[in-house]
Amino acid sequence: MRYFHSICLLIIFVALSKCNDDIVKAFKDNEVTPDVISIIPDGVLEVRYPSGNEVKLGNELAPRDVKEIPEIRYDADPDSFYTLILTDPDAPSRRNPTRREWNHWLVVNVPGTNISGGEVITEYVGSAPPKGSGLHRYVFVLFEQPGKLTFNEPHHSKNDGKRGNFSTEKLRKKYNLGKPIAGNFFQAQFDDSVPATHKQLGF
Ligand SMILES: *[C@@H]1O[C@H](CO)[C@@H](O)[C@H](O)[C@H]1NC(C)=O
Ligand SMILES: *[C@@H]1O[C@H](CO)[C@@H](O)[C@H](O)[C@H]1NC(C)=O
Repeated sequence: MRYFHSICLLIIFVALSKCNDDIVKAFKDNEVTPDVISIIPDGVLEVRYPSGNEVKLGNELAPRDVKEIPEIRYDADPDSFYTLILTDPDAPSRRNPTRREWNHWLVVNVPGTNISGGEVITEYVGSAPPKGSGLHRYVFVLFEQPGKLTFNEPHHSKNDGKRGNFSTEKLRKKYNLGKPIAGNFFQAQFDDSVPATHKQLGF
């Protein structure tokens, strides 16, 4: 019985370290670190879209599959507050990211895992990479806040396209958010759903 327990613990340990190795490799190989965040998150954030698509450390998804707000899962302390970011460092393109980062979603003061109980600073908008701009990286980062905070940041509605010049790293430092506890990312390129999103954003 005791032997069985040790084997189980070993398997859990190996599974956890593998998960951690995967995120370290994916964030480095795809330069999410350093382009978005200087510190690689501790764990993989679970992100699942209503379309059935799951975000898997750099997999390619189509803009049409990420139009709706995804379901986000993570282990949380119910008494802590969290900051969730979705950002595109490749605006307008990865080759020439003059408007890095373009902020797709920013929710702060999230109580535990209840994202809808958080304060929305930037309303969710799915991927809308311009035609011919290649693959963009869409990066999710989750921080555990040092407490409930007052955020002094410009708000963006879902029709507001002026979301460039965002910096995950600046936000992290400004509010002392520390080490990201979880992260994940996917990649996407133009598809025929993008023009409607651009129209919504006033482009
Ligand atoms: C999440 O927050 C919303 C808005 O404050 C609230 O209506 C809802 O009951 C909360 N859900 C849970 C599971 O606590
Ligand atoms: C971007 O923000 C920085 C300050 O964070 C500012 O110095 C710079 O002028 C801004 N650039 C644009 C294009 O708005």
